[in-house]
Amino acid sequence: MDEKLIPEDLRKAYSTKQILEMEKKHVVPAVSHYYENPLLFIRGEGATLEDAQGKQYIDLFAGICTTITGYTHPKFVATLKWQLDRLVYTSSLYSTIPYALLAKRLAEIAPKGLTQSFIVNSGSEANESALFMARKFKNNPYVVACTHAYHGRTTLARELSSAGWRTVPEAHPPGVRFQPYGYCYRCSFGKEYPECDIQCARYLREIIRTQTNKALAAFIVEPIQGVGGIIQPPPEFFQITNEIVQEFDGLYISDEVQTGFGRTGNKWWGIQHTGVNPDIITLAKGFGSGIPIGGFLTRPEFAAEYTTTDSFATFGGNPLSCAGAIAVLDIIQESNYLQRAAENGAYLRKQLDDLKQEHKIVGDVRGQGMMQGIELVRNQETKEPASTELLQVMEICKTEGLLIGKGGIDGNAIRIQPPLELTKGQIDEAYQILDKAFTQVEKTL
Ligand SMILES: Cc1ncc(COP(=O)(O)O)c(C=O)c1O
Repeated sequence: MDEKLIPEDLRKAYSTKQILEMEKKHVVPAVSHYYENPLLFIRGEGATLEDAQGKQYIDLFAGICTTITGYTHPKFVATLKWQLDRLVYTSSLYSTIPYALLAKRLAEIAPKGLTQSFIVNSGSEANESALFMARKFKNNPYVVACTHAYHGRTTLARELSSAGWRTVPEAHPPGVRFQPYGYCYRCSFGKEYPECDIQCARYLREIIRTQTNKALAAFIVEPIQGVGGIIQPPPEFFQITNEIVQEFDGLYISDEVQTGFGRTGNKWWGIQHTGVNPDIITLAKGFGSGIPIGGFLTRPEFAAEYTTTDSFATFGGNPLSCAGAIAVLDIIQESNYLQRAAENGAYLRKQLDDLKQEHKIVGDVRGQGMMQGIELVRNQETKEPASTELLQVMEICKTEGLLIGKGGIDGNAIRIQPPLELTKGQIDEAYQILDKAFTQVEKTL
């Protein structure tokens, strides 16, 4: 490629310091970075990222649970370049081959009956659209979400999220209700599984009976909460809530923004491990492996009333994003990612369980496949969240060349949601680094 075709500024090498200064001057503080000295990444390959100094990092966080095919996967890059040369954009007012093909491919892997796609740009937009459709279809304003949930930052998605995003003094908009999530390590009812009889799930009936018009538009739930701190309820939580949602004639929405596309191992969708067949699933993140795309899948009867006046997105379903997503589906299938996530997930889990045995700072280990979490506590008995300690662990890991994510309402859960390209060798290295970090930080407890 002729270098001169690229803007001169982009061809220059900037130092991390120069870029941080530029950001400080011109970017709003809402854009904040991990680490005392933030990282500037230049390139990546597989599950490895390289910073401006050429230092390499094993990436256990995939941006935020997004680059499912890793960095610069040859098929992904080649597909995007191919599409770039033909048609980057036209709107969905016209037919394009990538949108139609993607919708067909999604219908082939969707949970049973979810044959209809609506493609947008992000997870927040996917959830907003799905909830709008559910409210219209059921002619009912009530939506029930779970405590500790995260569904995005647009107006309704933010209000359905529990993790402290309501920073302006506003009451909840009408129609939003909350259900305790199955967070067994910190049970809302002070019970132990399985003697608890999954009281949290059964509480949904109480909520609908006492806080709605005894009906609802939709119940929205993550099969494993990501931002909430990799929290995974027992499968009965989903079965029982599904029965109650059906009893009150609502739609069951599984937010698969983090759990989708094979991350949980062996299945395409996290909800498929629970025996529940949802009415809608919402998608983003791994869907485009870094290319902006989101969407929902649903049944024809619900989609039938969702028409032109109800929604439209200028960039929704653009040819470039759809082509990228088709390449992602190809790679997942050709590289057996579903199986790989299950095998590597079991391998990783064994090591995380070992860390729990060896370190008093590890309160709980949970999750499935390539979506696992470690909740850090100052004291195993009181379960006091080790929030500042987690920041120290992150700094040590960074120095040692390992990137991890942070989650939980108290910011004390390590999130492991790597590209599915991650190798067993990288898992071994990650284990050594986490072991070292926990040993060092525990000394301060
Ligand atoms: C489960 C879940 N739903 C929705 C969203 C919102 O997605 P986006 O940031 O693409 O709007 C997120 C983002 O983290 C998420 O984790």
